[in-house]
Amino acid sequence: MKVLVTGGAGYIGSVTVRRLLEHGHDVEIFDDFSTGHRSAVPAGLPLHDSSLLDPESLAIVLARRFDAVVHFAAFSLVGESVANPLKYWGNNVAGSVNLVGAALEAGVPRFVFSSSAAVYGEPDVETIDEDARLAPVNPYGRTKLAIEWALADAARQTGMCATALRYFNACGADGALGEDHAPETHLIPRILLSRIDPNFEFQIFGDDYPTPDGTCIRDYIHVRDLAEAHVKAIEAVDRPGLTPINLGTATGRSVREIIDVASRVVGEDFAPVVRGRRSGDPARLVASNAKAEAVLGWRPVASDLETILGDAWRWHQEHPRGYDDR
Ligand code: UFG
Repeated sequence: MKVLVTGGAGYIGSVTVRRLLEHGHDVEIFDDFSTGHRSAVPAGLPLHDSSLLDPESLAIVLARRFDAVVHFAAFSLVGESVANPLKYWGNNVAGSVNLVGAALEAGVPRFVFSSSAAVYGEPDVETIDEDARLAPVNPYGRTKLAIEWALADAARQTGMCATALRYFNACGADGALGEDHAPETHLIPRILLSRIDPNFEFQIFGDDYPTPDGTCIRDYIHVRDLAEAHVKAIEAVDRPGLTPINLGTATGRSVREIIDVASRVVGEDFAPVVRGRRSGDPARLVASNAKAEAVLGWRPVASDLETILGDAWRWHQEHPRGYDDR
């Protein structure tokens, strides 16, 4: 298939580009490099350096006739979305509406959207399935849900086959491709960076949650597994309308468990300071992945914590300043 990947220079986007190429698909990338990295783009791949907020350039690119669009391009920091919500509504929602419109106009039959567990908010259930209540608690989650709704309406009306992949906690690295956000707010890179950059301090945000060790529980999913699910989504989903699918392991891990595995992988003990809770952090978020298995035939194979932490640690050691292109 000929596939356009928006945000193909970003963390999950770049790993997905690599997997699509390995599976024999023809890939073109659309990225404005506001957060993506040029060195994450394979040499020789058609690259459209442009913005989703520019409908004219979207129309020109989509006229190149794609069989599928995989849409990652978005800002993705929860805290930033609280501080600057219109940045998220403007870029992520308006940009996605432009992209969906251009894809429909060009007759693209398949669309895969990078959604998030953030659409669920703070559900009071052990494992979250796709029918759980959608009640996002921050602008990031609300904008992801708004895009899902726009896509669902458009797909229902036109017969487009669309998939919303709701990621839980993306992590790990894939060879030379790794996680490099600015600022970095995520748990695993923060733990590892505290061993690489002496000025970088890592703290636990709260150990008084109603969980066995008092720290928050999340569902950590290797970026390679996420990428594989996107390939399966463009190949497998042929149902008109929007199909939402969770991507997680169905296993919860606490912050302290992650720190223990990180200590083993790095070969040094961590003794982080415990701070107060970070606002908006639910105690537990764990995915049911039954639908991903049923619809996509997908199961995580790289998401044991040793592999995740080992791959991430290798990447940070090889890239102590990240991609170093800012
Ligand atoms: N944490 C710390 N110290 C840190 C960073 C994080 O203790 O320095 C804790 C957090 O409080 C949380 C856990 O580690 O309990 C995981 O935090 P992350 O920031 O790595 O991830 P989140 O679960 O907050 O966010 C993830 C995705 C978001 C998505 C959200 C959905 O990164 O994009 O899940 O709920 F919106």
